[in-house]
Amino acid sequence: MEEHSYQLIDGKAVAEQIKKELAAEVEKIKQDGRKAPHLVAILVGHDGGSEAYVANKVRNCEEIGLRSSLIRFEDDVTEQALLDKVNELNADDDVDGLIVQMPLPKHISSQRVIEAIDYRKDVDGFHPINVGRMSIGLPCFKPATPAGIIELLRHYEIPTKGKHCVILGRSNIVGKPMAMLMMQKDNPGDCTVTVCHSRSENLREMCLSADIIIAALGVPEFLKGDMVKEGAVVIDVGTTRVPSSVTKSGYRLMGDVAFHEVAPKCSYITPVPGGVGPMTIISLMRNTLLAGKKAVFGKEE
Ligand code: GUN
Repeated sequence: MEEHSYQLIDGKAVAEQIKKELAAEVEKIKQDGRKAPHLVAILVGHDGGSEAYVANKVRNCEEIGLRSSLIRFEDDVTEQALLDKVNELNADDDVDGLIVQMPLPKHISSQRVIEAIDYRKDVDGFHPINVGRMSIGLPCFKPATPAGIIELLRHYEIPTKGKHCVILGRSNIVGKPMAMLMMQKDNPGDCTVTVCHSRSENLREMCLSADIIIAALGVPEFLKGDMVKEGAVVIDVGTTRVPSSVTKSGYRLMGDVAFHEVAPKCSYITPVPGGVGPMTIISLMRNTLLAGKKAVFGKEE
């Protein structure tokens, strides 16, 4: 069997580089006498994963010089109380970006909350106006994970034009938007895209015909070595938290790719952690900066 000497896609390093660029832009805004863009995050309840993600967003804002506020609600908050807060923040000119950390408790409709957010402040890119605009290639806020993956492909100059890209997973926040971006007439883009999911037949055959595989199903080590062709590019979006006795936090992250089996077959592969994750955060930071600059939707729109 041919062994590729694969190249590790270092999302952490790329994110650090972009972070410096964003920080320099924020510094310039402040030197011009304007306020730094302001991200507001709403967190409902105390889910460990959500707590960690939001804390990471707030820390990255601080490191880049962006302003951030964290608004907390308990698990038993009513949908109306949450919607009232969203409307208040929509009307607040001092708020540039607004995110509500998902998932929300079952008694609250995530969709109603997402649609309540002013699309001009929707730096998560979840509002149907942003989703629709992205699907037809109009200026919009793009969701953070797919945008981060596009940046990685761009940074490593990985050829995508005419390639077969298989996406595993059809979620609204990764699989579907990723498919849109990979098929877009652009570089990175111009792929032939297949979206596979839990009901797909012939999944192994689909994967074996892929030049690029983006695994985003949330099933630890789902993608095995015998599902990947020689020279493929593999992007691992999985971040399942499993208990661990060896880490300080008491858990570790597991990707959707059986890395040790898959990596030797790849031309490029992302690790977990240190691949897609840091790029996701940085994309949110970039969107917040764009929101502050009114660079996506002008002042009048
Ligand atoms: N939950 C998982 N991913 C995300 C994300 O990108 N944004 C928000 N708000 N919640 C999430």
